Amino acid sequence: MSKCVVITGGSSGIGRELAILCAEQGVTLGLIGRNEQRLHEIALVCRSKGASVSIGVLDVRKREDIDAWLVAFDSHTPVDLVIANAGVTGGAREGENIEADETSRLVFETNLMGVLNTVQPLLPHMMARRSGQLALVSSLAGFIPLPDAPSYGASKAAVLRYGLALRTALRGSGVKLSVICPGFVTTPMTARETGWKPFEMPAERAARLIMRGLKQDKAIIAFPRFLAFLTWTGGLLPERVRNITERAFRFKVNDSG
Ligand SMILES: NC(=O)c1ccc[n+]([C@@H]2O[C@H](COP(=O)([O-])OP(=O)(O)OC[C@H]3O[C@@H](n4cnc5c(N)ncnc54)[C@H](OP(=O)(O)O)[C@@H]3O)[C@@H](O)[C@H]2O)c1
Repeated sequence: MSKCVVITGGSSGIGRELAILCAEQGVTLGLIGRNEQRLHEIALVCRSKGASVSIGVLDVRKREDIDAWLVAFDSHTPVDLVIANAGVTGGAREGENIEADETSRLVFETNLMGVLNTVQPLLPHMMARRSGQLALVSSLAGFIPLPDAPSYGASKAAVLRYGLALRTALRGSGVKLSVICPGFVTTPMTARETGWKPFEMPAERAARLIMRGLKQDKAIIAFPRFLAFLTWTGGLLPERVRNITERAFRFKVNDSG
């Protein structure tokens, strides 16, 4: 079991449930997000379960800030597991066909650069200790192009490829890496999306599946299995066939989150 866990996006949804699941006596948690009040609320819940909790009111897009916080935190309590979970969906809003330019940039900066900003500062320290685990949150949306949220799918595909490549490169270093690809999970993020959400599951169940996969050191933790199979094979279909099947998955977002 990991004794010191850092979770970005620990203030909501999947990150919140992961924090609560990891919280117990002897565990130190570092929870990162921008919303200070929500971080304090979750820290309180985790402390009531016996965990020691530090919060970092930080934007994962701000490289220097997150680097300084992570390095200071790690020098105090060496990090066993970092879950780079913070993310935004972006997407085209109701009445729009194309995702706005500033939305696309926000999505890449958060979902892709935010992951690099979280992983890179800790990597040399974990490698020097020859221990530690990196968990990168991608999505089943990384398996197929998403016309309604092109930057979301692309950012998650980049995280998936980056993570799998890094996992291979880290072989023999003592540092583990898994990429997490959830399907639809009930969180404030999914609440912003209109459209069909097959096999949607509670965030608490998603957190359990993630922790189980991390324990098994899986390369890709993808769930639910059937949707993972459909999206994976969907990504292999010829473009014209895929364009027909993906009609069932069209959606809009009802704000910029
Ligand atoms: N829900 C799903 O169906 C689903 C499916 C596949 C993958 N995922 C992925 O799972 C992860 C968690 O999503 P969720 O569903 O739990 O969404 P959520 O409830 O909206 O939570 C997103 C978290 O990310 C944090 N965040 C966003 N931008 C940030 C920034 N610039 N700096 C720091 N923190 C930031 C938010 O914290 P603050 O607002 O406090 O900054 C929040 O804690 C995301 O990477 C998402 O893409 C979700």
